[in-house]
Order: sequence, then C-alpha cells, then structure tokens
Amino acid sequence: MSEAISQVEAYLERTATERMDEYQAFLRIPSISALSEHATDMRIAADWLADQMRDIGIEHVEVSATRGHPVVYGDWLRADGAPTILVYGHYDVQPVDPLELWVRPPFDPRVEDGRIYARGAADDKGQIHLHIWAARAWLETHGRLPVNVRYVFEGEEESGSVHFDEWLEANRHRLGADLAVISDSGFYQGNVPAITIGLRGLMYAQVDVTGPSQDLHSGTYGGNVQNPANALAAILAGLRAPDGSVVVPGFYDEVRDLSEQERAEFARLEFDEAGLAREIDVPALFGEPGFGVLERRGARPTLDVNGLWGGFQGEGSKTIIPAHAHAKVSCRLVPDMDPRRTFDRVRDHVLAIAPSGVRVDVQLISLGMWSLTGIDHPATRAAAKCLEDVFGQSPVYLREGGSIPAAASFGSMLGLPVVLLGFTPPDDHAHSPNEFMTLANYEGGIRTIARYWEALSTGLG
Ligand code: BES
Ligand code: ZN
Repeated sequence: MSEAISQVEAYLERTATERMDEYQAFLRIPSISALSEHATDMRIAADWLADQMRDIGIEHVEVSATRGHPVVYGDWLRADGAPTILVYGHYDVQPVDPLELWVRPPFDPRVEDGRIYARGAADDKGQIHLHIWAARAWLETHGRLPVNVRYVFEGEEESGSVHFDEWLEANRHRLGADLAVISDSGFYQGNVPAITIGLRGLMYAQVDVTGPSQDLHSGTYGGNVQNPANALAAILAGLRAPDGSVVVPGFYDEVRDLSEQERAEFARLEFDEAGLAREIDVPALFGEPGFGVLERRGARPTLDVNGLWGGFQGEGSKTIIPAHAHAKVSCRLVPDMDPRRTFDRVRDHVLAIAPSGVRVDVQLISLGMWSLTGIDHPATRAAAKCLEDVFGQSPVYLREGGSIPAAASFGSMLGLPVVLLGFTPPDDHAHSPNEFMTLANYEGGIRTIARYWEALSTGLG
C-alpha cells in the first residue's frame, strides 16, 4: 500500500460515523424519477448532492437542467498531465410499491447485520456516495486527486434515460475525458468481486386496448362486444411461444450468435441454479431452451410483461365488460439488435394480431442501447488489480442482464472506453422491497476507487 493510500485509509477509519449519517440523509430523499409527484424530491436530491460535492472541494458544481430531471455535474481538473475520468451514476430510484412488503419504510434507512436497507441503498445512491467519499478522502488528506475527474450524476436512469443523450450532446464541450467509470452494477453470486463487460439494452412500451366508452353489463352485452381485457390477453399470448422464445417476426434477426469462445467464457462461471430458484422462491427457473442461465441473462433478448391492468380489481365480483385494458411490455436487447427496430416490430405484430372490435394503441416509452466491452483494456486490468487488493479476490467478468443506457452513449457519442466497476451484493433486492447495500462492499468500494485513481494517475497504459 502506498503512503498516500494509508493516509486515505486512516482518514476513512476515523470518519465512518459521519459517513453513515450522511449516507442515510441521502437515502431519506424519495427521489423516484418515474412518478411526477416526486418532482420536487428529485430537485431536493440533486441539490443535496451538489452541496456535498461543493463542500468537499469539487469545482464547477452545477445542477444542470434537462427536459426532465436535472443532471448533477462537477469536476476537479487540477491533476496536470494525469488522465481525466468521467464518473457516472444516478441519484434517482425505482418506485417502492408494494409498500407492505418493506420491513421498514423505504425512505427510512435501517442499519442491521452489516447492511443498510433503503430504496437506493445499492442502486444507485450508495454507489454515488462512495465515489464522493473516495474523492473526499483524497482531498482532505492530500489536497488533491491523483487524476482529473468529471462527475455526471443522472436523475432519469431508472426512467430510461430519456433526456440524457440530449444533455450529453449539449454538454459535449465540457465532457472531454479519457475513460468513463460507471458504478451502477455489482458483484457475482457469493459476493465475488466483478467487472461488468456487457449490459443489455431496453425497449419499453405500453399497449392500450380500448372498447366501449364505459364499462358495460356483461349479461346484457357479453357475447356481443369484444372484451378489451380478453383482447389484451390474446395479444400478449401472441408475443411469446410457450417455451419463452419471442415470436414477433424478425425479433431475432440481428441477434449475434454466441461464439464457441463466448460460450466457454459463460461456462467457466459456476452458477447455482437451484440456489437462485430458492432465493427468489420459484418452483423452477424458466427460459429459452438451449442456453444456460448466464447466457440467457447476458446474451439473449427477452420480452416481458411488466404490468397489466384493466377492469374490476376490487373485492367480490362485478359483472362488467371493462371499457379498456393496458399492459407495460419491455424487451431486453443484445448485440446487434436495434432498439427502435425492435419497437417497430413489436408494435406491428401487436397490431397485426389484435382481435377485431377494439382499438389498439402501442406507445413507445423508452429505448436504451446494449453495450459490450473487452476485458483487456489497461483501465480494466487496473480496476481488477484494485478490487483484488481491497477484497482479497480477483474479479470475474460478467455480461449482465440489466441496462444502463448511458454506458453505450459514452462510447458512441464521446468515444470513451467504459469500465463498469460496481460494488453491490448480488442479492441486493434492487427494484424490490427491502433493497440493501452491504456495508463491507460500500466501504471496500470507497477504498477501491481511491486506489483506482492512484493507479490511473500515470496513464491508461
Ligand atoms: N443498476 C441497474 C443496471 C444493472 C442491473 C446493472 C443489473 C447490472 C446488473 C440500473 O439502475 C437499472 O436498473 N437500469 C434500468 C434501466 C432501464 C430503465 C433503461 C434497468 O435495467 O431496468
Ligand atoms: Zn436500477
């Protein structure tokens, strides 16, 4: 360990309590980007983050407007001759329903058994916060960072990053960098350190089926009008085969086949299928035949219904033909699929199979590109070394199933290599009730980033 890092470590030791208080304060702000009633909270969270950044000496801090929720920007560019790193994370969180399954309210953080429970504890406020503390520890102990850093914290990642590319385009002039580092992913099963090398893309849409102008008596009208709920069920049933494969024409046309080598890389990772089924409490796993769990997660596309509503949902019975029915439908996308083309194909197929007697409308909600990088970039190797130094185990390389649209944008719009260096435990309940972050991962994350900046200070190789 360098002398500089041991001072950073000592500083982190003596500030642990203050850090936890601050982490919890951040988690108390209900920054749910998807729900308009939380627009003010989004602004409060952005301002809170900007204040923290200013307090520790990050410069040019700004809550920067987009057509949606703001981006929080700040930089520290005084490391002459050293590389510039663009750090990305998101301060928005997912909705919290169903509330009754939370042991404590989602925005009332609870520390228990070495974990901190709250919405956003892992995804992704905890990981933004650990970056702030890595910078703070360096600035407080040495008055400098070993590298130049530009922080870009988004407020709409959990809503599909709809306005983010526009912001990148408009701010391109101040985003010059050599590398993007994203901490919005996590460790492998058993809590093994990981570097993520692949993410899936996402196409999110809503299907609305409309029938009569109001609910009708199902005795008087049943048998003579099309039922929007039945029609929707027929449409959704027409999107996938019973084995889980997608039957939308052309859906797989651009999907890249896995090479022998890629299959061998997937096979190298041990995976406990029965353990996963137990953890999530399902009778059996289910998925496209011919592929392993990790291949399906990292390299195969999906089509899932994320929500479904319409008609009577109350107690007892109500005999109606509902006036309308709706579904949220999304597809995870893999190389070389095109998100817009996937939307067009799904929409066309939905309209083609729609039963007669109802109006069917398919609206696009968001599109996000997949990404795939190699494991051999010097910045990736340096990250692996830092993970090993801190966590005592070398990382595995993962192709993950989740999406971070910004990751592809940093490559395609800014031409940057991207390192996905995240620290959440694999069973963190992200997007679910009782989300948590393991404190050891959080603390180790700070130390990994602090070392990483030092390792990158002499160049990216
Ligand atoms: N942290 C996740 C992305 C992720 C998930 C990375 C799993 C690695 C493994 C991120 O916050 C997220 O949830 N993204 C959304 C993006 C979508 C709304 C475009 C997702 O994947 O659903
Ligand atoms: Zn998320």
